[in-house]
Amino acid sequence: MALLPMTCAKPYVPPVKCQGIKTKLVPFILKSIAWSGEGRWIEPFLGSGVVLFNVRPSRALACDVNPHIVELYQQIADGELTVSSVREHLEREGEKLRQTGPDADESYYYEVRDRFNDSGDPLDFLFLNRSCFNGMVRFNQKGEFNVPFCRKPERFRPAYVTRITNQVGAVRDITDDRDWSFKCCDWRETLKRCRPDDFVYLDPPYIGRNTGYFNTEWSEDEARELAQFTRQLPCGFALSMWKKNKYRENDHIAEDWDWAVEKTQSHFYHLGSTEELRNSMTEALLISPGSEAN
Ligand SMILES: C[S@@+](CC[C@H](N)C(=O)[O-])C[C@H]1O[C@@H](n2cnc3c(N)ncnc32)[C@H](O)[C@@H]1O
Repeated sequence: MALLPMTCAKPYVPPVKCQGIKTKLVPFILKSIAWSGEGRWIEPFLGSGVVLFNVRPSRALACDVNPHIVELYQQIADGELTVSSVREHLEREGEKLRQTGPDADESYYYEVRDRFNDSGDPLDFLFLNRSCFNGMVRFNQKGEFNVPFCRKPERFRPAYVTRITNQVGAVRDITDDRDWSFKCCDWRETLKRCRPDDFVYLDPPYIGRNTGYFNTEWSEDEARELAQFTRQLPCGFALSMWKKNKYRENDHIAEDWDWAVEKTQSHFYHLGSTEELRNSMTEALLISPGSEAN
C-alpha cells in the first residue's frame, strides 16, 4: 500500500521551532503527494522536521545546512539526549532565567546565548530556541545565534517543560525502529544522493530575504539553480513555495516551475489584533508530474 497520500487531522508538533515552519500545511502536503514509501523520504531543507515527523517513512535522509538542528535530532535519535536530560536542563536553566526577571536585565538568557555560541551544546540550543523571540532560528555572519529574548522570564513553567519533553520523547519513539539519517550539508550534496524510489520534499528559504537561518542568503540565482537541479532528479518530488498574498505574486513560480503540477492552499495570518488585519496567503506545492495525488 502507498504511504502517501495520507490524511492527518492533527499534526505532531516537533521540539524545534523555526521561521517558515510548515505545521499548518502538513495536512495539505500529506494529502497532495502520491508515493509508494519504498525508497527514502529525503529532505534537503529539514528545518524543524515537522513534515518528516508526520510522514514517518521507514527510511529517510534528513539534511540541513544548520549543524545545530541536525546535531539535536541526531542526539535524540541516538539516545544521547533523553527526555530526562532535557527535563533536567530546562528545569534548572529555566529557574535561573526566572530569577533574573521580570524587572531584571534578562541577563541569564544572554549568558546562555554566549555559552551556546562558544560550545554549541544542543541542550542550550533547545533552551534558546524555546525562549527566544518568536521561536526563531537566526545566526549572524560569524555563525553566532543572535535572536533576542522573548522577554518572558517565567517561560519554562512546568506545563511548558512537559510539552517540550513530550515532543522530544515523540522524536525518540518515531526514530526508534526506523532507518533515518541526519546530515549537515548543502542541498546540492543531498540531491546527488537521490535514487529512483526516493521522494524529495523541498522547502527552501524565501527568495531575496536574508533569513539568516545559518549563514545563508537565498538568492534568485540559487532558487533558479535548485529548479534546474530538481528537474533532473531520478525520483518524485514536491516543493513548497509561497504563491501570493494581498500585495504580491511570486514570479519565480511562473518563470521556473511551469512544468510542475501545482496545488494550492490558502490560509490566514494576523498582522495585528483586529479582524480587518487578517491577511490571506496562498501557498503552492509544486509536484513532479505523476507524483500528485488524485
Ligand atoms: C523554510 S526552512 C524549512 C522549514 C521546514 N520545512 C519546517 O517546516 O520546519 C529552510 C531551511 O533550509 C535551510 N537551508 C538554508 N540554506 C540551505 C542550503 N544551502 N542547504 C541546505 N539547507 C539550507 C535552513 O537552515 C532552514 O532550516
